[in-house]
Amino acid sequence: MAFPITRLRRLRGNEVTRNMIRETQLTRNDLIMPLFVRPGKGVQNPINSMPGNFQLSVDLLVEKCKELYNKGVQSVLLFGIPEHKDEHGLVACEHNGIVQQATRAIKKELPDLYVIADVCNCEYTTHGHCGSIINGDVDNDSTLITLGKQSVSLAEAGVDMIAPSDMMDGRVGHIRKALDDNDFSNMPIMAYSAKYASAFYGPFRDAAESAPQFGNRATYQMDPANSNEAIREVELDIFEGADIVMVKPALSYLDIIRKVKDTFNIPICAYNVSGEFSMVKAAAEKGWIDENRITLEILTSIKRAGSDIIISYHTQDIIDQLK
Ligand code: PBG
Repeated sequence: MAFPITRLRRLRGNEVTRNMIRETQLTRNDLIMPLFVRPGKGVQNPINSMPGNFQLSVDLLVEKCKELYNKGVQSVLLFGIPEHKDEHGLVACEHNGIVQQATRAIKKELPDLYVIADVCNCEYTTHGHCGSIINGDVDNDSTLITLGKQSVSLAEAGVDMIAPSDMMDGRVGHIRKALDDNDFSNMPIMAYSAKYASAFYGPFRDAAESAPQFGNRATYQMDPANSNEAIREVELDIFEGADIVMVKPALSYLDIIRKVKDTFNIPICAYNVSGEFSMVKAAAEKGWIDENRITLEILTSIKRAGSDIIISYHTQDIIDQLK
């Protein structure tokens, strides 16, 4: 029925009806807060390009987690900055690795806070690439071995979920098998499936001290121009046993989120990455935008696009406002 019988403004005229017909509800259940942990005691290094975010030593990380948990944050994603790095990122597989220590400390105080560990080598290698270098490029199959070890070690430390972000071929299957062989068949894997070689990761690389020392990540992360390839990546990860698939970054890739949603029947996560966060913070500092409204609009749009779960540095700022 056309105008004047149909008038879409009728249901917009009252807050109650607007609330009744709202199609997308953002809730506390949807959000994951990323955190950075480093060695030491009492260390709280501000990350300049990400206002409100810090590299924290384990003791202060636990305090931060308590604060977040009391505000209603249910889940955190941990990234580690180790004391020493090595060529293959083996330091990430140690029993007393920085994320392993952090996980044990958090779980002791807050057993119900859901702890997800990012699995990748870039924070742990001297060259800053996501795997072992052979003949000038990241070698796929030897990298799988360290990723499997890292995952098992993190599982032993008590994480609730493993999230591989390296973009090696076959890593989900390899990690699944490594976990299963070590009695962790119930450990979920959230795979960074469609992870693009993005300039939006700039601030994160300062935060995690993980910038590549030569070249770039274009030989393993996806070309931002591609969308059909994202479907192949997601399909492979599902086939290899991923429990949740991820699209990353989020905002320039809302079309990819929607396409994955329409193609597969599996929970989807999107990563609202560091550069997306920093742009909002910078514009807000200048007084050019309303930070709170923009943040809610951005996160709602990611959910509307089809994401069930959102990883976002904004989580700590807006969780209070959500149910
Ligand atoms: C590690 C990793 C990166 C991010 C998450 N895991 C960086 C990268 O691939 O260079 C980026 C997160 C962000 O920008 O917030 N591979």
